[in-house]
Amino acid sequence: MDRIKIIGGERLNGSIPISGAKNAALPLMIASLLTDDRLTLKNVPNLADVNLLARILRNHGVDLAVDGKRSGGAAHLGETFHLTARDISDTTAPYELVSRMRASFWVLGPLVARMGQAKVSLPGGCAIGTRPVDLHLSGLRALGAEIDIDAGYVIARAPKGLVGGHVLFPMVSVGATHNVLLAAALAKGETLIENAAREPEVGDVASCLVKMGVQIEGIGTSTLRIQGKPRLEGAVHTVLPDRIETGTFAFAVAATGGDVVLEGTRRELLRNALDTLQNTGAVVTDTETGVRIARNGNGLEPVDVETQPFPGFPTDLQAQLMALMTRAHGTSVIRETIFENRFMHVQELARLGADIKLHGDTATIKGVKSLRGAPVMATDLRASVSLVIAGLMAEGETTINRVYHLDRGFERLEEKLSRCGAKIERISTG
Ligand code: EPZ
Repeated sequence: MDRIKIIGGERLNGSIPISGAKNAALPLMIASLLTDDRLTLKNVPNLADVNLLARILRNHGVDLAVDGKRSGGAAHLGETFHLTARDISDTTAPYELVSRMRASFWVLGPLVARMGQAKVSLPGGCAIGTRPVDLHLSGLRALGAEIDIDAGYVIARAPKGLVGGHVLFPMVSVGATHNVLLAAALAKGETLIENAAREPEVGDVASCLVKMGVQIEGIGTSTLRIQGKPRLEGAVHTVLPDRIETGTFAFAVAATGGDVVLEGTRRELLRNALDTLQNTGAVVTDTETGVRIARNGNGLEPVDVETQPFPGFPTDLQAQLMALMTRAHGTSVIRETIFENRFMHVQELARLGADIKLHGDTATIKGVKSLRGAPVMATDLRASVSLVIAGLMAEGETTINRVYHLDRGFERLEEKLSRCGAKIERISTG
């Protein structure tokens, strides 16, 4: 199993290309199930989760061809995927695959919309919380799907096709919004989704559906009005930049000090997180090509933050902010409101000398003068990368074990950081 070794204390200077967003690429790939035409996706990041979804889609009969990188192309432009779901040969998504990645559950809506039936394994719990799927199911029922649960599988049927309906989500769910939005694209008539997730990745999927021929009003808002079409066309779409990768590197630069341009990204994708970063004392400026993050030798100010659905502070950056705040001049308070168990990084950060107290959904972080490198364990994707940030700040050597978590969502992480002066390397143990 690979490990990552970091010798902390180096400032970061230079530029980092930001990849396409994992959490947009996944539902965009799933959108290919809606049409027998070709869907071309550009700027797809090369990640373990993307590769796993590719396997799942191939299992359904989707043909996937990947273009090589163009020579001379910008480094942040990822791969180009051509997906064609001409014949869907299998409408079952088996446990062995769905249990490894929750987003694969989102094939349910598109499959039942196109094929009139789908059998998809329940994703089960995961390390960050119980993560039920009740909102996905009630949303699809509102579009006329008959849904049963049997032996760990969700079986959805709509032999005469889905019909538009009114979906009012009692709470914001990114995944349920994707699932219902994708299904509504092929449903007969109009679907109204209220309290829809406003995450930019949802907007990216909606924009792609518009290119495929669906009429959608309210993109970027919490009310989506979708006019379904009996048949969707192919399209060419470029995946938007990864705001969580952007925020992670922004926090890393603030953590070490230095001056880095994050290329190919945009501030509005994570305004709240970058405003928070500015409150810690870092300088954030827009450049023609991206966003520049700088921090000189000044200390970091503490901040109080609560995670919220977009446009609030993202739960996917909570662990990274906590790593940064371990060295602030004072006490920070971070409340996690999205997932009930997303604090696994706390005890690992403590191994490096962080002073963090947990009370229910709230972490109180007392800044310390220094962190000291130590062996630590990656537990989930975003928790793992918070350990990278802490390792970059710590004195001496930090080794991070179980880095396959990182590979699920960060493309060429060590390379991007070491190019800016970090002492970080992957140790492959076969
Ligand atoms: C998406 O997960 C992201 N995953 C997550 O990123 C992200 O943390 C999360 O949204 C919140 O922003 C992808 O985009 C692939 P939710 P998702 O449904 O859709 C509850 C990462 O690291 N809920 O918005 O699964 C749920 O338990 C990942 O890249 C229900 O109660 O999240 C949670 O408390 C991790 N019933 C809250 O809603 C439901 O039917 C928000 O979850 C669905 C959700």
